[in-house]
Amino acid sequence: MSLHVVILAAGQGKRMRSALPKVLHRLGGRPLLAHVLAAARALRPERIHVVVGHGAEAVRAAFDNERVRWVEQERQLGTAHALAQALPAVPRRATVLVLAGDVPLVRPRTLRRLARAAAGGGLAIATAELSDPSGYGRVVRDAEGRVARIVEERDAAAAERAIRECYCGLLAARASDLARWVARIGRRNAQGEYYLTEAIGIAAEGGVPVAAVKADEPWEVAGVNSRAELAALERRLQRAEAERLLAAGVSLADPARVEVRGALRCGRDVSIDVGCVFEGRVRLADGVRVGPYCVLRDVTVGAGTEVLAFSVLEQATVGARCRIGPYARLRPGARLAAEVHIGNFVEVKASRIGEGAKANHLAYLGDADVGRGVNVGAGTITCNFDGAAKHRTVIEDGAFIGSDATLVAPVRIARGAYIGAGSTITRDAPPGKLTLARARQVTVPGWRPPAKAPTRARG
Ligand code: UD1
Ligand code: CA
Repeated sequence: MSLHVVILAAGQGKRMRSALPKVLHRLGGRPLLAHVLAAARALRPERIHVVVGHGAEAVRAAFDNERVRWVEQERQLGTAHALAQALPAVPRRATVLVLAGDVPLVRPRTLRRLARAAAGGGLAIATAELSDPSGYGRVVRDAEGRVARIVEERDAAAAERAIRECYCGLLAARASDLARWVARIGRRNAQGEYYLTEAIGIAAEGGVPVAAVKADEPWEVAGVNSRAELAALERRLQRAEAERLLAAGVSLADPARVEVRGALRCGRDVSIDVGCVFEGRVRLADGVRVGPYCVLRDVTVGAGTEVLAFSVLEQATVGARCRIGPYARLRPGARLAAEVHIGNFVEVKASRIGEGAKANHLAYLGDADVGRGVNVGAGTITCNFDGAAKHRTVIEDGAFIGSDATLVAPVRIARGAYIGAGSTITRDAPPGKLTLARARQVTVPGWRPPAKAPTRARG
């Protein structure tokens, strides 16, 4: 079977009240359209056609390296009109799976069932039994219980509105049939649009069997038309993520207070406290503990490491048995070996930190190579930026940096060197020696506090 997928994504999404095209709004950290594309890809179709219109430039730019055929719908005249823009480039004998860019959580399993139900030459539509069907097209069946047509809510009579069987905006049929049906669709309805839903009535009238493929879970085929619907679907998605983590053996302090916006993979006996957000690809090895209110984006954390409350880690690699935080910040390019301690208000950027090194309080390590067992005192700063370029600081194994040291890069602190507290280091420090770079302390002999001028009586 030659399968083509057409994704309708040209609408503005008026009910979102947003400058952003609807399909770019995020669910689980990814644009709605990304979810639909992933589900479509899982079927390995011959080609995916995406119909764009409102904000087409932005949508295309957001999916720069996707291999899809972009189809422009200049004016958004309705779902049938949108499909009509894509059909001419689809082989007539192909089975076409029509998806909506705003129905993001549909599973490949359901799409496969749809495509299969249409493979024999009929029409297959995705349906769901909804407790609150408002906003959806209702499935009207004939006396024999066969699907007869879909009526949009705005055009429905009171009795039709009471129907809870809904059309979810996804269908499959042969390209040549769809083209024929779509050509007959008019725009005499409440919105003056070309409704693709009319194709169902036209097909049924012509004696074409219409198969209703019911989704297992109603949320799977839920559409996103408003911010409230988006938020509700986000909760659904997060609940599913939390259930998946629990089932995989992860401890969650509260399954309702963890956010996964990407792919989180965990080893054994990982525990996650409340309020944590995981974005992009995050990998937590065995026994990792994440304290409350941490944000981890694209990071790898080694076994037995503890990330304490309110820490923010981004594009960082953390070794085993480290202690990070509370209130630590690891920025892109932070690479920590095993048993490193990064304490409160310490920021690390584009730096390698060697095994067992410690920076426990109030420090900035940027563009630095820090050796094994180095101790970085409180208030230490690598001055990596001269206003034009970034420079590296090298701190060799076993060096001891006293509190409040200012290391002006490029500079090298050699193996086992000691830097006195409060030093401003501008030249390389030799190995195993104490280097100081600060004014000497003096006590001024014979000093007296200034005398106050005698107060004059006011006349
Ligand atoms: C549509 C269905 C409705 C169904 C619901 C399920 C129609 C007429 N109605 O309603 O029966 O219950 O989906 O979610 O099909 N689009 C375009 N070009 C256009 C208009 C829309 O590409 O000119 C795209 C939108 O971007 C969207 C999809 O088609 O991704 C559906 O359009 P939308 O306006 O959201 O239709 P609904 O009112 O939700
Ligand atoms: Ca919709």
